[in-house]
Amino acid sequence: MDAVLTHLLPEGRQVARAIDGTLGAGGHSRALLEHGVGELLALDLDPQAIALASANLAPFADRVHIVHASYPDLVGEAARLGWDAVDCILLDLGVSSMQLDTAERGFAFRYDAPLDMRFDPSSDRPTAADLLNTWQADDLADIFFRYGEERESRRLARIIVRHRETAPFVTTRELADLIAAATPAKVRRETHIHPATRVFQALRIAVNDELTTVERVIPLAIDRLRSGGRLGIISFHSLEDRIVKDAFKAAATDCICPPQIPICVCGHVGSVDLITRKPIIADETEAARNPRSRSAKFRVVEKR
Ligand SMILES: C[S@@+](CC[C@H](N)C(=O)[O-])C[C@H]1O[C@@H](n2cnc3c(N)ncnc32)[C@H](O)[C@@H]1O
Repeated sequence: MDAVLTHLLPEGRQVARAIDGTLGAGGHSRALLEHGVGELLALDLDPQAIALASANLAPFADRVHIVHASYPDLVGEAARLGWDAVDCILLDLGVSSMQLDTAERGFAFRYDAPLDMRFDPSSDRPTAADLLNTWQADDLADIFFRYGEERESRRLARIIVRHRETAPFVTTRELADLIAAATPAKVRRETHIHPATRVFQALRIAVNDELTTVERVIPLAIDRLRSGGRLGIISFHSLEDRIVKDAFKAAATDCICPPQIPICVCGHVGSVDLITRKPIIADETEAARNPRSRSAKFRVVEKR
């Protein structure tokens, strides 16, 4: 939290307008409003988060605009407020502890609940159960491998497809138990995480199309910043962080011609400076206060 404030609200800067693209319970939004942000636009895809954060941010109601929308919609929502450029934008990616702890959302294998996993359960997007019950084995294996870094991706996908021929998947427990039963006892003893962890992560990322959405929002967010404005992104796993790192690096680079071309022909001009060359990670105090922050990486750029 401290790193977010010091990097997005550097001392002495006027921060009239900010956007929090991932409102959640409103913790970061509240901190931004308490530390100098004049007006805040906050978005979240999750209607439950919107309701909770609206209550939490009630004391700031005259300075905050809360919208149920996906973060790439920040462009249209800012325009609706008549904002052409903003001073800072924050994205705190992934799933919230509130979502993980709400059994019926289907994010966690420790509960028995419908396999949903949509950030927005009111949308008509397919659920995790829909993916498991309809996708080809190869497509399931691909997401388990790419989004979950699951080494047994092909074997698990085949087991899942065979299982659904008897009965379609409905609950988290069915999937978690099937994967646990397919994992040799020796492997289960040697790893500290539940054997279904990687498949659950992969399904969540696929259901919400998370990586494509992150890729899409970065140029849009940079475009929305005023000169000197800052974009900060907190990511929770290596795939997300790689996308953020590469997109920030590309946006900060002037010439993007292939190295074999001696003179620049692309004319590309970088639009940002990197404020964090290496990602900021939580210190011991922060990690003790908020265990989820242990795997968080925070990167910041400033618009030229
Ligand atoms: C890690 S939590 C944010 C926690 C928040 N910073 C706080 O202080 O409480 C991530 C939030 O992003 C939301 N989210 C995920 N994808 C989204 C998207 N494409 N657009 C808007 N919100 C999204 C989730 O619903 C979740 O509430």
